[in-house]
Amino acid sequence: MHPHIQKLYDIAAKHQRKIIGLMSGTSVDGLDIALCSIADNGTNTKINILHFETISYSTDFKNEVKSVFAKKQVDFEKLCLLNPWIALQQAKMINDCLAKWGVTNSEIDLIASHGQTVYHAPKILHQQENFGNATLQIGDGDHLAVATGIITVSDFRQKHIAAGGEGAPLAVYGDYLVFSKKDENRIMLNMGGISNFTFLSGDLDASKVFSTDTSPGNTIMDQYVQKHFPGKYFDENGELASSGTVNEALLTALKQNDFFDKPFPKTTGPELFNLDYLEKAIQASGTTSISNADCMATLNRFSADTIVDAIKKCFNANEKFVLYASGGGMHNPVLMQNISNQLPGIKIKTTADLEINPDAKEAVLFAILANECVSGVGYHFNDKKAGIPSVTMGKISFPD
Ligand SMILES: Nc1ncnc2c1ncn2[C@@H]1O[C@H](COP(=O)(O)OP(=O)(O)O)[C@@H](O)[C@H]1O
Ligand SMILES: [Mg+2]
Repeated sequence: MHPHIQKLYDIAAKHQRKIIGLMSGTSVDGLDIALCSIADNGTNTKINILHFETISYSTDFKNEVKSVFAKKQVDFEKLCLLNPWIALQQAKMINDCLAKWGVTNSEIDLIASHGQTVYHAPKILHQQENFGNATLQIGDGDHLAVATGIITVSDFRQKHIAAGGEGAPLAVYGDYLVFSKKDENRIMLNMGGISNFTFLSGDLDASKVFSTDTSPGNTIMDQYVQKHFPGKYFDENGELASSGTVNEALLTALKQNDFFDKPFPKTTGPELFNLDYLEKAIQASGTTSISNADCMATLNRFSADTIVDAIKKCFNANEKFVLYASGGGMHNPVLMQNISNQLPGIKIKTTADLEINPDAKEAVLFAILANECVSGVGYHFNDKKAGIPSVTMGKISFPD
């Protein structure tokens, strides 16, 4: 047996593993690094976040990624170069964090790397008859493994697509394993660039678990801020949105898109929700003279309304649940207020109430996917229902 297979076997046989979960989402804001101690597996999984940090990307890094991000036409050589380069940049961030935390690389069992999404193309978006669902994350796992000396599990989304999904949302797997709670229906709402939620039934029935993307979280707001407010990357604490007034005509136009009529579950990305999308809605609504502040207020409501609409469409009005928010959008008080205004009587909490830092949640969920990849016993979702194939995800890269 190759010694690295023996090492993997030993890791799989442990009761407790140290796994670094990495997340770099469509906001391209930074790398979330969560060092987790994970005991057991499946619905017995127990998580302890030992260290967490988001390493903000430099302007250069963001510009490199954005040169190929969510674009139909790119410099193909640049895309090829970025695949190892992003991994090496991220490996350095991990090595630096471990040194700062006083943890040696050899103490870590696994890295779970999401990679950087550069294009998300579910069939509902590309609509090309001869092609199925597709998605592409770069920042290759072999490079991470060699540069950190740590076995790396990566590229989780391809198996999901291979088994009939759209490659997202993947949060549902970890949400089910870690956050299911007897006698409490839960909606786990993550608001990154795109928003998605998982429904967890209080009777713990896996066949009732449901998950979908809803619409933009921060993505169009972020893109607008970056274009119109040089030096700013996002609407910190919703200050820009709160200085404007919602333009109802533009809001209505923003909601006119086929995507919102497609059945759930469905996924999307900045490939659809971008400044061109906004521009078309501005033209259609005749609001070309709208102020930046009013536009930000309207985009904020657009995210909130479409998140709430998706939740309402998926559940009966009399179904009780508690909503647990996570992701950067929960730091935007205007967005949170716009959501809660439309969900009277629903308790809104964050995953901090469940002892998981809401900024770390997605990275932790990828650590759980890696834990399941090496030591899990499989998922038991209702495979007849679209979107949650019962497959184990991730590709394994060895450092030697
Ligand atoms: N204090 C804040 N006020 C308003 N928005 C915030 C704040 N902090 C983070 N955000 C938003 O959250 C985004 C990052 O969210 P994140 O969960 O990391 O998304 P992703 O997974 O797409 O990277 C930022 O780009 C920004 O839009
Ligand atoms: Mg992020």
